Amino acid sequence: MTILRIEHNVALDDYNTFGIAARARELVRVRSAADLQALVEQPALLRPGWIVLGGGSNVVLTGDVGKLVLKMEVMGKQLVGEDDKHWIVQAGAGENWHGFVAWTLQQGWSGLENLALIPGVVGSSPVQNIGAYGIELQDRFHSLEAVDMETGRIFTLDAAQCGFGYRDSVFKHTPARAGDYGLAGKAIITHVRFALPKVWKPELDYLDLQRKMQELGLHDPTAQQVFDMVVAIRSAKLPNPAEIGNAGSFFKNPVVSQEVCDDIISREPKIVHYPMPDGTVKLAAGWMIDACGWRGKSMGNAGVYSKQALVLVNRYPETGVRATGGEVMTLAGAIQTSVYERFGIRLEPEPVVL
Ligand code: EPU
Repeated sequence: MTILRIEHNVALDDYNTFGIAARARELVRVRSAADLQALVEQPALLRPGWIVLGGGSNVVLTGDVGKLVLKMEVMGKQLVGEDDKHWIVQAGAGENWHGFVAWTLQQGWSGLENLALIPGVVGSSPVQNIGAYGIELQDRFHSLEAVDMETGRIFTLDAAQCGFGYRDSVFKHTPARAGDYGLAGKAIITHVRFALPKVWKPELDYLDLQRKMQELGLHDPTAQQVFDMVVAIRSAKLPNPAEIGNAGSFFKNPVVSQEVCDDIISREPKIVHYPMPDGTVKLAAGWMIDACGWRGKSMGNAGVYSKQALVLVNRYPETGVRATGGEVMTLAGAIQTSVYERFGIRLEPEPVVL
C-alpha cells in the first residue's frame, strides 16, 4: 500500500522561479503514478481541489495556496524502444527539462537541442507545448502517460490526442460543453516519451541561430554545437531564474488574421510578425511591449527585463523586497492596457495565475 506524506504550511518561495513568497496549506510530493492513485482513493484530501506544481517556471502565485499542492517528483529517464526512424526515449514528469535535454545528447540522441535551457520539468513540457528556436515539443513528441484523477486509471495519449497548438494542449482546457475534450484539472502527466530522429538534421532557420553561426563561423553544426549556441543565445537574452526571478515569456505572441495584421502594419510598419502555415500571422508581443516603452521599466518590485520586454522579473535582488504576485499582475495589466490602446491587441498571459 502506498503511504502518502502530507506536508503542512510549506514555503513555496523556492518552488516557483518567479521567487514569489507564498505558502501551501498542504503539499504532497508525487513520486509515482501509484502515489496519484492513492490520492484518488482518499477523496477527503482532494476535496479542497488540487494544483500540480512542476518546476514552478510557469506560475504566478498571487497568495497562499489553499488547494492541495501536488509537487511532481516522478524521476527516471531511459530508452524504451525504437522504430526505423526514431529512438523512443522516456522521462519522468519531475525530471529537470534542461538536464534531460543534455542527457539525451550525451547518449547520442539528437533532436531536443533547440529546446535547451528552457526552465521547468519534463511533465510540464507537453502542457504548454514548449517551443524555442524553430522547434516545438510536438515535433519530437511520441506519447505520454497520465493518471485520471477521478478514476485513478492510467492512460496513454499520442500526439493527436494531446491537441497541440501554439503554447497549447488539452491539458490547458477544461471541457466547456459536454463532448468537449479538456483535461485541465482532470488528469496528471507522469511520464513523457519522445521520438528522436535516427537521421538528424539541424533546425537552423531562426534568425538568432543564423546570427550566432555567422559569429562563430559555423556552417554545419553538430547537435552539441546547436545546443551550445542556444544556451549562449538564451543566457545573453533571458534572465537566469536562479539570479533574477521570472517565468519566461509572460505573454503569448498573439496570432491574428492577415486582415488584422495588414491593418496594424498600415499604422505600425515596423511591427515584427511571422506568417504561419495556416494563413494566420503571429505578432511579436515583445516588440509591441518594447515599442510601448516598457522595456526596463518597473512598478513596485516587479519589472520588465531590460534585454527582453516579453519577460517580467522579480526585482528582489535590486530592491531587497520580493515582488508579490499582485505586483506582477498589476504590472502585467498596465502593459496589456498600453498594448491594447496602441495596437488594439489583447495580450494573453502565458503562465498560470494562481
Ligand atoms: N523584440 C523586441 N524587443 C524586445 C523583445 C523582442 O524588439 O524587448 C523583438 C525581437 O527583436 C524579435 C522579436 O521581437 O524580432 C521576437 O523576439 P524573440 O526572438 O526574442 O522571441 P519571442 O517571440 O519574444 C519566443 C518564445 C520564447 C522563445 C523565443 C525563441 C513565446 C511566448 N516566447 O519569444 O519562449 O525562447 O521565441 O524561440 O512564444 C517562453 O515561452 O518562456 C520563452 C522564453
